[in-house]
Amino acid sequence: MRFSVSLKRLLCLLADGNFHSGVDLATALGVSRTAVWNMMRELKELGLEFSAISGKGYCLSRPVELLDGQAIQKALSPATKPQIAEIEIHDELDSTNSRLMGLASSGSASAGTVCLAEYQTKGRGRVGRVWHTPFGGNICLSLLWRFEDFNAFSGLSLAVGVAIARALRTEGVPGVGLKWPNDILWRGSKLGGILLEVSGEAHGRYAVVIGIGLNVHIPSSRAGDIDQAWVDLDQVTAGHPPSRNRLIAGLLNELFLLLPDYPAQGLQSYIGEWRQWHCQAGQPAVLHLGGLAIRGVVSGVSDDGLLMMDCEEGGLRKFASGDLRLRTDA
Ligand code: BTN
Repeated sequence: MRFSVSLKRLLCLLADGNFHSGVDLATALGVSRTAVWNMMRELKELGLEFSAISGKGYCLSRPVELLDGQAIQKALSPATKPQIAEIEIHDELDSTNSRLMGLASSGSASAGTVCLAEYQTKGRGRVGRVWHTPFGGNICLSLLWRFEDFNAFSGLSLAVGVAIARALRTEGVPGVGLKWPNDILWRGSKLGGILLEVSGEAHGRYAVVIGIGLNVHIPSSRAGDIDQAWVDLDQVTAGHPPSRNRLIAGLLNELFLLLPDYPAQGLQSYIGEWRQWHCQAGQPAVLHLGGLAIRGVVSGVSDDGLLMMDCEEGGLRKFASGDLRLRTDA
């Protein structure tokens, strides 16, 4: 679906979460009441829930805080601001990661370019999964950075997990944990994830796109789209989630603190803190790797960021990749 200018204007009028009559909305947009009704149906398809009550009009089931470049800029730290090349904000995009990977491969984006979207039509997760994004209900953030060589960003996705956990803590979100390698959890359910993508460039350099997805409010109508236990910031904070724009700025503040010095500092500066956020040590789990399902108990993470698992077959082993699931049958 193309996200039209009128649809955006309608959404801005409704974003406060109050009732607006069909007549007022139609007048403000210069369209018929039937056109307003059709646009409301389009909003529903995007994942926005609303009530329509005769005599009162339309009301979103909750206010929506739309992405706002100025609000994000205002909450950036003085150290972060000069490092940002550009912040792109899209109403609709296939995927913020795909967008920056495309810009990186055509050489048309500088390190420090940030891409945000209200809605992704082809959001991508790890291991080929789809990442679902109801309109305005998620943080979809990608950031492009460049490294001089491959070793310079070894373990980066774990360090990014620490940055996200710190940003959530700063915004007062309680009880966040990290799961190897790239998940943000809350009481065992998925709150967010990281998708790091890399492409080689001239002179041995690498473009790295750091993609972060965080669930802010997933409407119940969309719950069935997600194939694993999930949670959103709305639930975690009992209905008082942090401002989306401020949290985005907080994430950027943490990422820009991390990235410039990462080649010198490496994972060793973050692994101790990663272990403190780790919430699965000692838990029985299965690691899905290729066609294999390896059963064992999560023992921890090595200094170089590998998963250490006490396996039923083979004892303590280290793994560089895989999809880890907790076992409830142990
Ligand atoms: C995962 O846990 O599977 C990783 C999810 C990463 C989702 C984010 S949303 C922003 C960026 N754009 C994408 O298409 N994916 C990442």
